[in-house]
Amino acid sequence: MEELLRVNNLKTHFFTKKGVVPAVDGVSISVPKSSIVGLVGESGCGKSMTAMSIMQLIQKPGKIINGSIELEEDNLLTYSKDEMRNIRGNKISMIFQEPMTALNPVYTVGRQVREAITIHHSNIGKEEAKQKVLDIFKAVGIPEPERRYNSYPHQLSGGLRQRVMIGMAMVCNPKLMIADEPTTALDVTIEAQILSLMKNLQKERDTSILMITHNLGVVAEVCDYIYVMYAGKVMEQANTFELFKNTCHPYTEGLMKSIPKITSEKQRLYNIKGVVPNLMKLPKGCRFCPRCDNAKPRCFEEEPPLYKIKSVVEGSEDHYVRCFMHEDSGVKYDE
Ligand SMILES: Nc1ncnc2c1ncn2[C@@H]1O[C@H](COP(=O)(O)OP(=O)(O)O)[C@@H](O)[C@H]1O
Ligand SMILES: [Mg+2]
Repeated sequence: MEELLRVNNLKTHFFTKKGVVPAVDGVSISVPKSSIVGLVGESGCGKSMTAMSIMQLIQKPGKIINGSIELEEDNLLTYSKDEMRNIRGNKISMIFQEPMTALNPVYTVGRQVREAITIHHSNIGKEEAKQKVLDIFKAVGIPEPERRYNSYPHQLSGGLRQRVMIGMAMVCNPKLMIADEPTTALDVTIEAQILSLMKNLQKERDTSILMITHNLGVVAEVCDYIYVMYAGKVMEQANTFELFKNTCHPYTEGLMKSIPKITSEKQRLYNIKGVVPNLMKLPKGCRFCPRCDNAKPRCFEEEPPLYKIKSVVEGSEDHYVRCFMHEDSGVKYDE
């Protein structure tokens, strides 16, 4: 498959007074053209900082200290501020969890989406831009686009606001849309609608999506390929079917068990024991071992590399896992 985005050994660290926080600690991710790729992990694992690094929106005391980020032929880390401004919103766009904070409360949503067009295309007039906004509102399923054009953010429901954000992200036909927890603030019915909308937009407009969420159930629904991230590192990555059929990392297993099941009985939600470690004081060895039921003495001493392992689902060969349990069957891939 042809590659659209390639992130290689990205390290984004925060240099705080108390010490260095390795929020993103050597992450490599690939997003093929015409695909939806998932990045999943508990809160605090470095997912948003990975996204912000791709957009080059990391603020002090954070800094990208290693790696490369390539969007087709563009090597983004060599770009100037102006060049990046042109990439953002135009070639790569991003939507956030809480649309209320991303939308300006004092302007109508129509105006805000229109300005997302004219900021990148000064040759497009106001009327033409308005028509584009109405078209995109229709495409993202906003009823009565003409009326909604003149609405203020607070006059819309959470679901409609997220549709506006998706519209704003899609209106310049970006090659890549990064969606950071796009449905976390929504209830499950609206969540399902938004996910199916994103899936359809991906197909119709051929925009690839990097979908970030803490919920493995969400990525399972929409993604072709999944990266599981823990405390700044990718622990397992595989095609979606493969990941569910042949779950290899104990952390991925824990996330699987945490997916809420819809049953008639009341269930206690499963939680992986313990918490994500303080990144400033990462344990020696495997960063997941203090929470792992399978940890052996070696896991507390040595950090496991990524192993490429045999897949069980045909046609999904790219399965990698960072765990010593797979040392014998896997091939060492990186440190
Ligand atoms: N401004 C900051 N200063 C220090 N550490 C930060 C800062 N911003 C983020 N971090 C660190 O980066 C880690 C990863 O954050 P984030 O990428 O937002 O996690 P996620 O999106 O997976 O919930 C946090 O746990 C925190 O330790
Ligand atoms: Mg986040």
